[in-house]
Amino acid sequence: MTVNDVFPWRTLPAVQQPEYPDQDALHGVLTELASYPPLVFAGECDQLRDRLAAVARGEAFVLQGGDCAEAFDGVSAEHIRNKLKTLLQMAVVLTYAAKVPVVKIGRIAGQYSKPRSKNVETRDGVTLPVYRGDSVNGFEFTEESRVPDPERLKRMYHASASTLNLVRAFTTGGYADLRQVHAWNQDFVRNSPAGQRYERLAKEIDNALAFMNACGVDPEEFRTVEFYSSHEALLLDYETALTRTDSRTGKLYDVSGHMVWIGERTRQLDHAHVEFARNIRNPIGVKLGPTTSADDALTLIDKLDPEREPGRLTFITRMGAGRIRDVLPGLVEKVTATGAQVAWICDPMHGNTFEATSGHKTRRFDDVLDEVKGFFEVHRALGTHPGGVHMELTGDDVTECIGGGDEVFVDDLHQRYETACDPRLNRSQSLDLAFLVAEMYRSQS
Ligand code: PEP
Ligand code: CO
Repeated sequence: MTVNDVFPWRTLPAVQQPEYPDQDALHGVLTELASYPPLVFAGECDQLRDRLAAVARGEAFVLQGGDCAEAFDGVSAEHIRNKLKTLLQMAVVLTYAAKVPVVKIGRIAGQYSKPRSKNVETRDGVTLPVYRGDSVNGFEFTEESRVPDPERLKRMYHASASTLNLVRAFTTGGYADLRQVHAWNQDFVRNSPAGQRYERLAKEIDNALAFMNACGVDPEEFRTVEFYSSHEALLLDYETALTRTDSRTGKLYDVSGHMVWIGERTRQLDHAHVEFARNIRNPIGVKLGPTTSADDALTLIDKLDPEREPGRLTFITRMGAGRIRDVLPGLVEKVTATGAQVAWICDPMHGNTFEATSGHKTRRFDDVLDEVKGFFEVHRALGTHPGGVHMELTGDDVTECIGGGDEVFVDDLHQRYETACDPRLNRSQSLDLAFLVAEMYRSQS
C-alpha cells in the first residue's frame, strides 16, 4: 500500500497552493509535522458532529467566528482573550435572548492560510507574489518576505497549539464560568450601546443564577464552555501531515482542528480539496457563493455525505445581501428534497466586501445584517432551519467595517485598520449583531 492509497487526494489537482522554491525543504518540514502530536482528538470531532447534528435537526444554533486571517504576531494572551470574550458574550446573548442552545466554534487556532483572487500584487509599479497568509509568506511588501517558506508551516502548527492551549484553559478553567458574565464586558465595549444592553442582560442572568443558587441548584454546565476550533483546510500539504488514523475507529481524522471547511475557491468537485474532505471523519463545512448551482450542491452532498448523516455536512452560504433572497431558496429546496439533513449557516461577510473611497477593503454593518435577515426569511418561508452564523470578527476596538451602534464612519477606517486580509467586526459591532440575530431567531420560532 502506498501513501497515495491512504491519502488518495494527493494525486488530484489542487488550486491555491503555494509554489515552494525548495521542495526538499518542504518535504523535510512535512515529515517533521507528521510526527507532531495531534492538536485535537478524534473523539472531540465526533462530539462536534453530534452537536451539529442537533443544528441540522433544527434544535441548536451555530456561532462560528474569528479573524479572516490569524497572524503569528496575534498569538498573545490579550488578543486571544479578547476574541474569546467576544464570542462568549455573543453566545450568551444568543442563548439567553433567543433561548436556543448555541454551538460555539472559533475561526481560530489554524486560520492562517488565505485563498486569493490574484497571484500577484502591484504597488507603485512593483509586482510581487500576493500574501497568502502567515502560514505561507510574509505580509510585508518585499521580495524576500513574499517567497513561500515551508518553515512557516511549523510555525502555524505551534501558533495553533499555543492558541488552542490558552482557549482550552480559558473555556474550562473558570474564565468562561457563567458567573463571569459581567467580567467579559469590561473595557472599551462597556460604554458602547451594545455593551450597555449587554450589561442589563448580564444582570438578569446574575439574578437568575442567584435564584437557582438559593434553591440549591448549581449545575456543572455553568462552569465551563464547550468550544471548538475550525479553519479553512486550504493547504493540503499541512492538512495531510496532520491527518491520522484514529486507533479506536480506524478512520482518518484531520487533527489540526475540530471542523474544517472548503472555501468557495477550492470546492471543484473533482479536485483534491473535496476528495480530502470526503476521506476524513471531521465535520465538514463547504462555502457556497452566489453562483453555486443546485447540481453542485447535490454532488457535494453525494460525495461528502453519502450516508445523509446529520452533522456531517454544513453548507456555509455567502451570497451577498443583494442576492441571498433570490439564490438561496432554490438551493435549500433542492437539497431538502434529496432528504439530506445538512446544517445551513449564513456567512454574511464574504458577499458584502467592497472598496471604500479611502481605498480600504470594508463591509457595511447594515449589509451584513441584511444578509442574515434574508437568510432567516428564506428559511422561514421554506420551513427549514436557519442553523447559524459565520462571522469575521475580533475582540479589539478596530475600525474595519462601517456602521454599528457605536458607529464607525468611512473617515474612521484608517484609525485602527489592522486586518491582514478581510475587514472584521469589532466587539461592539459583533455584540450589536448578536442582539439583532437573537431577535430574528426569536421572532421566527
Ligand atoms: C474566508 O472565509 O475567509 C473566505 C476566503 O471565504 P470564501 O471561501 O467564502 O470566499
Ligand atoms: Co475572509
